[in-house]
Amino acid sequence: MRLAQYTKADQEEILGNSDDPFGVAWTGLSWLPKEEHFGIRHDGRLVAHAGLLRLPVTIGDAETEVVGVGGVAVAPGMQGQGLARLVVATALEHARTMGPQHALLFCRPPLVSLYQRLGWHPLDEEVLVEQPEARLVTMPLRTMVTPLRDDARWPSGPVRLLSLPM
Ligand SMILES: CC(C)(COP(=O)(O)OP(=O)(O)OC[C@H]1O[C@@H](n2cnc3c(N)ncnc32)[C@H](O)[C@@H]1OP(=O)(O)O)[C@@H](O)C(=O)NCCC(=O)NCCS
Repeated sequence: MRLAQYTKADQEEILGNSDDPFGVAWTGLSWLPKEEHFGIRHDGRLVAHAGLLRLPVTIGDAETEVVGVGGVAVAPGMQGQGLARLVVATALEHARTMGPQHALLFCRPPLVSLYQRLGWHPLDEEVLVEQPEARLVTMPLRTMVTPLRDDARWPSGPVRLLSLPM
């Protein structure tokens, strides 16, 4: 279901209050909060989340937008039961109404095969993202995309996110 808000406390309800619940602190990157949130409740407790926001991007010479997906999380005791599949599918159903032709996410290499099972494709190109003080850095995580329309084709060329990553 759609969540009216998603706070730090909501995230801790799902993942606990670890310092690095997504295992990406080593990247040293600054991230954007997501704007739209989808969740699953079980016995009144939030047990899964996926967030979305629209982001400007250039792919080759073309400037366009993608729907960024982030903050995908399932409570440790509830993992392996298809909840990530369900919450990401719910978020993507909404993403299809947002306008952009593709959704994009960043993940650690061990999660590439999980997202491939959900219909996402890894990008082999280097992906640049913005960081504070106008720094441009190469994304050290894997970038994955999925079409939001039947006729969508990912253009060729280098990818640059014109914002912080999400
Ligand atoms: C990553 C995470 C969201 C997965 O949640 P989950 O509920 O266990 O995932 P699901 O059960 O929905 O699995 C989705 C699919 O991936 C498969 N899968 C699960 N783990 C996998 C793995 N390590 N490699 C390949 N496939 C995997 C499942 O079999 C399932 O496929 P199927 O539906 O065809 O059987 C969860 O482990 C988590 O919250 N981790 C901590 C936070 C995090 O790292 N988030 C990722 C941010 S990008």
